Amino acid sequence: MSTQPIDATTTSAWQALSEHESTLTPDLRGWFAADPGRAERLSFELADLHVDLSKNLVTDETVALLLRLADEVGVADRLQAMLRGEHINVTEDRAVLHTALRRPAGARPALVVDGQDVDHDVQEVLAKVAAFADKVRSGEWTGVTGKRVATVVNIGIGGSDLGPVMAYEALKPYVQDGLEVRFVSNIDPTDLAEKVKGLDPTTTLFIVASKTFGTLETLTNARLARDWLWEQLGTPDDESARNEAVAKHFVAVSTALDKVAAFGIDPANAFGFWDWVGGRYSVDSAIGTSLAIAIGPDAFRDFLAGFHAVDEHFATTPAERNVPLLMGLLNVWYVNFLGAHTHAVLPYAQYLHRFPAYLQQLTMESNGKSVRWDGEAVTTTTGEVFWGEPGTNGQHAFYQLIHQGTRLIPADFIAVANPAHPLKDGDVDVHALFLANYFAQTKALAFGKTADEVRAEGTDEAIVPARVFSGNRPTTSILAPSLTPSVLGQLIALYEHITFVQGVVWGIDSFDQWGVELGKKLALEVAPAVQGDATALDAQDPSTKSLIAKYLSLRA
Ligand code: F6P
Repeated sequence: MSTQPIDATTTSAWQALSEHESTLTPDLRGWFAADPGRAERLSFELADLHVDLSKNLVTDETVALLLRLADEVGVADRLQAMLRGEHINVTEDRAVLHTALRRPAGARPALVVDGQDVDHDVQEVLAKVAAFADKVRSGEWTGVTGKRVATVVNIGIGGSDLGPVMAYEALKPYVQDGLEVRFVSNIDPTDLAEKVKGLDPTTTLFIVASKTFGTLETLTNARLARDWLWEQLGTPDDESARNEAVAKHFVAVSTALDKVAAFGIDPANAFGFWDWVGGRYSVDSAIGTSLAIAIGPDAFRDFLAGFHAVDEHFATTPAERNVPLLMGLLNVWYVNFLGAHTHAVLPYAQYLHRFPAYLQQLTMESNGKSVRWDGEAVTTTTGEVFWGEPGTNGQHAFYQLIHQGTRLIPADFIAVANPAHPLKDGDVDVHALFLANYFAQTKALAFGKTADEVRAEGTDEAIVPARVFSGNRPTTSILAPSLTPSVLGQLIALYEHITFVQGVVWGIDSFDQWGVELGKKLALEVAPAVQGDATALDAQDPSTKSLIAKYLSLRA
C-alpha cells in the first residue's frame, strides 16, 4: 500500500485543535462540577474492561475535534487496509496481520492474503502448539532419561521475550503446578548462567524463540544453553547422542524454519509463524508457546479470544464509543497539543509488573520514527516515552513528580476488582485497601488541593505553597473484573490499537524498526576491537577507542 499519508498538521481539524488548545484552560474541578454527566459520558465498556476517560484534559469539543482529526487522516480506512492484509508495513513491503492470529476458528469470510489462506495456517500452527503443550503438560513429552519436563526455558529477546514473560508473570495463577518457565534474553552471560542455576537438565526444555532466527543474542544464548545441556547431562562427544539430547530438550519458534534446522533442531519440533507478524505483536503467535505450555491450550485460547473481542470493538464500534480510537487520539492531544513527552502506565495489579516494560517495546519501537511511510520527514512530534511500575510501589518512588512536578504526564491506571489472593489483615480486605490507593491517586491528580484547603488543615503559611496540588493532571482508569487470560489479551490488544491510531495520525509505519539495526551492525564491527584486535581498535573513533582501551586494561 503506497498511498501518501495525509499530513495531519495540514488538516482543518488540526488547525481547529490548535485554536481550541490556545483558549482552553484545563479545569477538571470546574468541568465535573458543572457537568454531572461527565463521568458517565466519558466512561466506556470494552469487552470486560471498564474505561473511564473523564479525568482527561478534554471537553466535548476537544473530543469532537480529535474524532474529526481521525476522520480527516483516514484512521478507519487504514485500519480496514490492515485487516484486509494490504502491505501497510510499507518499508518492509509486508502485510500487518497480528489481528489474524486471534480470529476464531471458522471465522467468515475467510482471510486470504497474498494467496495464503491465513486462517487455515494460523489454526494449523495453533493446533500444533496446543498438541505440543498438552504433551509437555501431561508428561508424555520426556527428556533423554524419560523424565517429564519441570522447567521450560524460553530463549528470545525483544518481542520474542517481553510478551511471553509479561504474560507468564501476569497469569501465574493459571500456571500448572509443577511447571515453571524461565526467560533468558540478555547476551550478558549472567542472564543464562543465573537462569539455569539449580536446574535439572533431565527435566529442562529449551524453547528458542526468534522470528528471524538470526538474532545474535538469542543464537548465542541458544548455543550456550546447548553446551550447558550436553555438559550437565554428560552427553558423550558423539553426534547421535548430542543430536538426541537436542531433539528431546530443544524446540524452536521461528519464521525461518531452514535456520532452525541448521541449528540442529528437528523441524518437526519447530513452530512457525509469518513475516506479517511483527516481533512486538507476536505474543499471540507461536512465540507464546512457553505461555501455552504454562497455562494450557484452553487458557491460551481464552487469551486469544480476549484480543479478538477488542479487535472486533475497534473495527466495528462507532468512533464516539471506540475506546482504542479515543485513547490513541488522547495521546495525540497530549503529545502534539499539550507538549507531553512521556506517558505512565501504572498497574494496580502486581501480576502486571512487566506490563509497562512490554508496552515500551510495543509503543516505542512502533512509533519512535522521524520519517513517514512515504519517506518524507514527519511534520510534528511523534512517539512518547512509555514507562511505569506497579502501584503502590510507584507512589513511594516517582509519583511526586507526577503530582507536583512541572511536566505533564498523562497516566493510565489499571486495576482488577477481584484479586487472585483475597487476603485479610484482621478484618481488613487488603486488596480493597490496595485499590483505595488506585482510586485516591487519580482523584488527587485530577482535583488537587487548593491553598485554602491546605490552610484549612492548619498548615503553617510558609509551607502552604509546597503542599498545594495543582490538580488537572490527566489520567485514564481501566478496571477489569479479574486478571484472566482473556482480560490480559484485551489489555494488550487495546494498547496495540492505541499505538496504531497514533501511528496513522503521524503518518508513520508503526511496523518497521530500522532504528535498531545500526547499533546491531556496529556491535559486530566493534567486536574484534573488544576482543583485542589492534587494527580494529585503531579504526575506531577516538572516544570509542579510548573506552575500549580502558576496558581492555581493566580486564583481569
Ligand atoms: O531488535 C529489534 C527486534 O528486531 C525486535 O523487533 C524483535 O522483537 C527482536 O529484535 C527479536 O527478533 P527475533 O525474534 O527475530 O529474534
